[in-house]
Amino acid sequence: MEMAKPEREIETETVSHVMPAEPSTVARAARVLADGHLVAFPTETVYGLGADGLNPAAVARIFQAKGRPADHPLILHVADVAHARALAREWPRAAEQLAATFWPGPLTLILKRAPQVPDAVTGGQDTVGVRMPAHPIAQSLLTAFAAIGSGVVAAPSANRFGGISPTRARDVAHSLAGQWDEHDMILDGGDCPVGVESTIVDLSSTVPRILRPGGVGRDAIEQALGSPLGYSDEPAPRVSGALESHYAPQANTLLVSKSQLLARLQQIRAEDRGASADVACLVMDPALRDQLATMDHVVVMSISGSADAYARDLYARLHDADREGVAVILVEAPPTGMAWEAVNDRLKRATA
Ligand code: TXA
Ligand code: MG
Repeated sequence: MEMAKPEREIETETVSHVMPAEPSTVARAARVLADGHLVAFPTETVYGLGADGLNPAAVARIFQAKGRPADHPLILHVADVAHARALAREWPRAAEQLAATFWPGPLTLILKRAPQVPDAVTGGQDTVGVRMPAHPIAQSLLTAFAAIGSGVVAAPSANRFGGISPTRARDVAHSLAGQWDEHDMILDGGDCPVGVESTIVDLSSTVPRILRPGGVGRDAIEQALGSPLGYSDEPAPRVSGALESHYAPQANTLLVSKSQLLARLQQIRAEDRGASADVACLVMDPALRDQLATMDHVVVMSISGSADAYARDLYARLHDADREGVAVILVEAPPTGMAWEAVNDRLKRATA
């Protein structure tokens, strides 16, 4: 009979904060937010690390837990358009059009901030990011919190600053291990269905423009607006996700074409004198996958060749690779093109 392996310490320390997102737990989580504590919760994009967005002390805990610089602004999450409008001093026609078309959903609007939005949220900027998420657990949390509190939840992705966003509750627990106090909660709502963060559209200057590609495609946004998005040269507002090296795994991560992947792997082997370091290979091509599966010290991770499924699974695979403790992650470069814009943006940053 095989003995159960003891859990690694990091897991046992943090797992106590993870709760299945049942209705009674969600109601409790709303209370936790109202009391100024942290609740990590699933959205359709990635897990968010939430706090009462109108309570500066609660917001400060987000920055502390993430290790995020104070001048990087947070997105405010709301249950409905009325709450969103109350956070903005102007609600332009483009906001009306985009909210009507894509909310609830993976789209964040940057608007001129209303006076009630704390400086702690905006990093002192005159604008605020607002989004109405589509995930049913996020929605019930926001609705329950609106009944007993502000109904406004500031939430960055629930990972340490610069790391990969979590799409599973266990990745939240792992990424933010040691950051929780006794009141905080992680709501486990399973895997996030979109898997990359929201598209951020800046509506605070004259022509709407994309600051971060994401869950909603550029073409769909232009269609809803009835006009092309701008490519402005004016300095963009600070978007931490726009830092060159962001969304990065611990392991050295390299993007290589399918035809070069084996050669690159041999090269890494040749440089590795002990020939003992594990290399993870994230591949779409089945033949390549089968070839790699026969090799020693290679952790093969397959991922779908369809853009939506690839986006959904990417962060989970990168977290898995880090958990395996591999030295290098080789990523078979996916196709380019509009449907792959968000995935390629994140891969570029993960490999920067
Ligand atoms: O899908 C998402 O957007 C997820 C889920 C949890 O909603 N959230 C997320 O938050 O990705 P975060 O903080 O990891 O990324 C939000 C990005 C940051 O790069 C931040 O700089 C930018 O939004 N942002 C927030 N407010 C802004 C503002 N007023 N102006 C410009 N950028 C802003
Ligand atoms: Mg983030």
